[in-house]
Amino acid sequence: MLRRTNYDGIPSSEITSEQVYRERRELMKLGAAAALLGTSPLMAALGYEKAKSPLELTSFDQITTYNNFYEYSTDKESPAKLAKNLKTRPWTLHVGGEVQKTQTLDIDTLIKKIPLEERIYRFRCVEGWAMVVPWVGFSLSSLLKQAGLTSKSKYVEFETLFDPAQFPAQRQTFGNIPFPYREGLRIDEAMHPLTLLAVGLYGKELLPQNGAPIRLVVPWKYGFKSIKSIVKITLSEHQTRSTWNQIAPNEYGFYANVNPAVDHPRWSQARERVLGKFFKQDTLAFNGYGADVAHLYKNMDLKKFY
Ligand code: MTE
Repeated sequence: MLRRTNYDGIPSSEITSEQVYRERRELMKLGAAAALLGTSPLMAALGYEKAKSPLELTSFDQITTYNNFYEYSTDKESPAKLAKNLKTRPWTLHVGGEVQKTQTLDIDTLIKKIPLEERIYRFRCVEGWAMVVPWVGFSLSSLLKQAGLTSKSKYVEFETLFDPAQFPAQRQTFGNIPFPYREGLRIDEAMHPLTLLAVGLYGKELLPQNGAPIRLVVPWKYGFKSIKSIVKITLSEHQTRSTWNQIAPNEYGFYANVNPAVDHPRWSQARERVLGKFFKQDTLAFNGYGADVAHLYKNMDLKKFY
């Protein structure tokens, strides 16, 4: 049932025995952290494949207290405080549109059916900050295969829960982005094995501020593509909507691939600051996942399709 993956963008030949040693130590620390945090009964019962990675993980604390979640607030600290009571059960995920079988899935039934694995990914926000997160989840492709693709399944649209009673910013008429938040992928991007539906991090169920109970993670794209608290996935023959692209198309492209060579109109994308670190580092093309994904864009002008 368990599958092994090492999708951290670093060829295994570069992993030295010293690194292997450090990884083991990291894993032990991770285990201790999970014990401390109290791995959720659901995940403990299911078990999941632990990942190995030479990347240094961002702390649980940083990942869960510095968030972008505009349904709560436009600042980074509020989501962790305001999201505490998000009702994540019962929760259904609707998969429809251009598929063979439209499905309405109960989140717990889904999680029990699909084997979970840990994926340690770099994550790069369009604003210039970055982190390394040990997600727990499964490839989006396994869900889409269940629904069955057709010749018309060319794009995928994702939608966040719309519930003004729970999300304060959805009650505001001015001063925020249009809701529900939506994001989209081309079908080959959606079917790529790196594209993850995450239900946990650090071995624990996702906290609401990180997009509980289920969110998208596309590690080679800017973070705004990684939509949170998803209730609806719709396959379509035509290019689907993307909230940030609709608000400011000159600033946020539909593709949003991490690209140090294409600046945001208001700031450079060449460097990034990892949460918890003082010095900035160079941003990598496709966030370091070029070997896995660059072929998806081989005949495209990435300056035009940013
Ligand atoms: N999804 C929803 N529904 N609402 C949001 O405001 N923000 C996006 C993305 N997904 C956002 C969202 C942005 S801009 C980023 S950088 C990431 O979530 C942040 O994820 P994190 O808070 O787990 O780090």
